[in-house]
Amino acid sequence: MSILEVRNITYYYQDGRNKRVILDNLDAEFEKGKFYAILGESGSGKTTFLSLISALDSPKEGIILYEGKDIKEIGYERYRRNCIGIVFQNYNLIQYMTAVENVLVAMGITENKIEGNKKETAYKLLEELGIDKETADRRVNRLSGGEQQRTAIARALSTNVDIIMADEPTGNLDHETSEGIIELFMKLAHERNKCIIMVTHDLAIADKSDVILKLDTKKKQFEVINNRLEFIVE
Ligand SMILES: Nc1ncnc2c1ncn2[C@@H]1O[C@H](COP(=O)(O)OP(=O)(O)OP(=O)(O)O)[C@@H](O)[C@H]1O
Ligand SMILES: [Mg+2]
Repeated sequence: MSILEVRNITYYYQDGRNKRVILDNLDAEFEKGKFYAILGESGSGKTTFLSLISALDSPKEGIILYEGKDIKEIGYERYRRNCIGIVFQNYNLIQYMTAVENVLVAMGITENKIEGNKKETAYKLLEELGIDKETADRRVNRLSGGEQQRTAIARALSTNVDIIMADEPTGNLDHETSEGIIELFMKLAHERNKCIIMVTHDLAIADKSDVILKLDTKKKQFEVINNRLEFIVE
């Protein structure tokens, strides 16, 4: 069964009298244990889609179901706190706090059960993502981009959610660091049964995913890319 289901979503921006439709009757399904890449031209609506499934905005029509339940019923704030983790291109960490403090903030907000001592768990999680204790105790404005993004991923995971959504998470990172982050997402999907939904412009990254969804600018719906070889070469 899919953990997240998007049914018949329509979204538009109202520019004065003009209605600019971005998503039109779009359907999608996401399962645990899979790594999804969302592709599409700039302006096709990828970030808009992510803002809807992360309940930062609501669709004009259609519904989004988490474990079969309308996220509106769950409550948007509650859904964000307890069901999903979000990773942004610019990390969105609290700059004057240390890495471990950033993770602890998220753990303090969620209503999900966290086993054991929170601080120990936070250090352990960071360690698993390649941030040692010395680094974890540094203020995030003194960390490299890759370290900040790992911290952001640790924060997203710290609340024991099953879905991680990321909007171009490697957009500000060099090639090697990006590869490390992508490996990490793959492992989270395949070894820890998370559902990873990632927007990217990078075809090589998308090629490592389990499912590629391309947002078609004309149809304003997803096209599932099956013939990968042809697509990537193109
Ligand atoms: N608040 C807004 N008001 C009006 N139009 C908007 C608003 N936010 C985004 N748009 C428009 O909606 C369309 C989709 O934007 P979106 O940010 O979702 O695209 P995207 O696929 O994420 O693009 P990119 O790859 O450049 O990040 C764009 O044409 C954008 O200009
Ligand atoms: Mg975008």
